[in-house]
Amino acid sequence: MNSIIDPAIETYAREHSMPESDVLRELSDETYRTMESPQMVVGRVQGGLLRLLVSVSGARRVLELGAFTGYSALAMAEGLPDDGELITCDMNAESTEMAQRYWDRSLHGAKIMLKLGHALETIDTLEGPFDLVFIDADKENYTAYWEKVLPLVRSGGLILVDNVLWKGRILAPVSTLDHAVDAFNKHVAKDERVEAIMLTVRDGVTVARKK
Ligand SMILES: C[S@@+](CC[C@H](N)C(=O)[O-])C[C@H]1O[C@@H](n2cnc3c(N)ncnc32)[C@H](O)[C@@H]1O
Repeated sequence: MNSIIDPAIETYAREHSMPESDVLRELSDETYRTMESPQMVVGRVQGGLLRLLVSVSGARRVLELGAFTGYSALAMAEGLPDDGELITCDMNAESTEMAQRYWDRSLHGAKIMLKLGHALETIDTLEGPFDLVFIDADKENYTAYWEKVLPLVRSGGLILVDNVLWKGRILAPVSTLDHAVDAFNKHVAKDERVEAIMLTVRDGVTVARKK
């Protein structure tokens, strides 16, 4: 990823954050060795943040849109209690086959259930309430995902959204995707159903609490 943060600062933050579990480190290593867009994994700092938010919020039921090779799902599952549950949605059979291999190696993997298919269709088959939702699938559907998941989140629950700074392109949107992310951010900023802040972590993470 072309970082919007000074790479030396990123490295310093990573080296002064809690270490990943061995399974997460190996999953990340294989992703970088074998996948075309490995920078899609959230990595140690953001993965640690997701895990902390899951545990401090006391979440028991989590929904993720966008599993890829399974890093963020496993990081969040590590923050769930033993009887917690995480449903993750993706449409890529190849990357999620790798994800499943690593989830199977972790004590926390049994909490994760994969739903293969278009996330917009999968959400329609799910019943709430969820305590926390992490949106990290295709950016053009971010506003549609937001509208579909918000009713499924319990009052006081969290919605986290990745890549909201879109490598800085939201400052001068050009492409359809740039405009989609910018429009989504404006949609959230005026949504009175939530309290939301945007963190400048990695590529930008919105943290919203449903009122
Ligand atoms: C940025 S990656 C997710 C990264 C992951 N959260 C992690 O930390 O490793 C986005 C994922 O969304 C998936 N995706 C894209 N469009 C989708 C859709 N319409 N429905 C479900 N998944 C989709 C892609 O296959 C890809 O694996």
